[in-house]
Amino acid sequence: MISFQFDEIHEQVRDTIRKFALEEIAPSVIERDVNGEFPWEIIKKLGELGFLGMMVSPDWGGSGLDTISYVIALEEISKVDASVGVIFSVHNSLVNWIFEKYGSDYLKEKYLRRLATGEMIGAYCLSEPEAGSDATQIKTSARKVGDRWILNGSKNWITTGQNADLYVVFANSNFELGYKGITCFAIEKGTPGFEPGKKEDKMGLRSSDTTSISITNVEVPEENVIGNVGEGFYIAMRGLNGGRIGIAAQALGIAQGAFEASVRYAKERKAFGKPIIEHQLIQAKLAQMSMKINAARLLIYKAAWLRDNGYDHIQESSEAKLFATTIANEITREAVQIHGGYGYVREYHVERMMRDAKVTEIYEGTSEIQHLVIAREIMKRW
Ligand code: CAA
Repeated sequence: MISFQFDEIHEQVRDTIRKFALEEIAPSVIERDVNGEFPWEIIKKLGELGFLGMMVSPDWGGSGLDTISYVIALEEISKVDASVGVIFSVHNSLVNWIFEKYGSDYLKEKYLRRLATGEMIGAYCLSEPEAGSDATQIKTSARKVGDRWILNGSKNWITTGQNADLYVVFANSNFELGYKGITCFAIEKGTPGFEPGKKEDKMGLRSSDTTSISITNVEVPEENVIGNVGEGFYIAMRGLNGGRIGIAAQALGIAQGAFEASVRYAKERKAFGKPIIEHQLIQAKLAQMSMKINAARLLIYKAAWLRDNGYDHIQESSEAKLFATTIANEITREAVQIHGGYGYVREYHVERMMRDAKVTEIYEGTSEIQHLVIAREIMKRW
């Protein structure tokens, strides 16, 4: 049965996070963007409210909510600050999920409990300087010596690269097997030889730190292998199937934020003797924005529902991501246009949203990769 009605828990999640976003995240968003300041206080409070373990089972200290709740939260957060959105997204849908799904009880006890409360913040380390889209080609190596693994290599574009406490790292432990040699490891901040590089000076998402990481003779105890040896590439990809729903929700939040700002502005701003919202060209822009946002939201909720109910959702999560990130870019550009000159200055927020939207078409798989994933699933299904 199809229902477009939210249940009480979803409504509660939305009310709680919306209030939090407006009261705690929104007031300082411009300042953090200008100064590239990590939102420590906000992340700490999200942890206290249970949002940093929102999909983790209560058995491991989480809130046990579903993916729909997660996309609701991510939209609300990203509507006011997409930098907080990406930190939240990587932590919840990549790192926590990987620990819960593939981690041993030892790893869950040691790390997942602390991730779920926000005592530890997670980062996901797959990309490398020469292996982004072509993720099977990572060159970071893992060699077994006694009861330890020794890792060497480097990672790139790591969200929360400097500020995370725990890193999920993919390395190849048997290059002869190609991607079937990739293994997943948990590495704690401060492990000798594991050195985050300087923060990238990015166009958008400026208060989320993105760094490279250099990995030199890093010793990892064998109990820190997540899943089976050689299972790492599958873990990385299955994580991204959920991660992509998260980035779609982040893009949706950016688009919704830009849309709401545009409606407010168009009602206030007068030109040619009336509020600009009464001009048909502005109305057409707003109608297009609203239609695209509603379509994106449906794709995202459907992908989230499929994930929650154990159905295959590779195609749907890529479709949601591709569509939502495309329209977020169109909508933020139109939002700047509706604001005219004011849209081009910081104070009105939409220029930041336009900058923030761009990377959603790049990370967790570029739009080109989403086309490829969708096309491959079509070929399999039809
Ligand atoms: N889900 C489950 N399994 C998958 C999968 C998916 N989405 N994609 C691939 N696989 C499986 C395949 O079924 C295949 O398994 P078998 O051999 O057992 O059948 C295996 O993985 C290899 O896949 P392919 O043969 O399709 O490999 P490929 O090299 O031709 O294509 C790719 C792989 C789809 C291009 C993949 O490399 C990819 O998704 N690349 C993009 C990587 C990416 O999204 N990086 C994001 C970085 S993380 C990030 O940005 C986080 C952040 O900090 C914000």
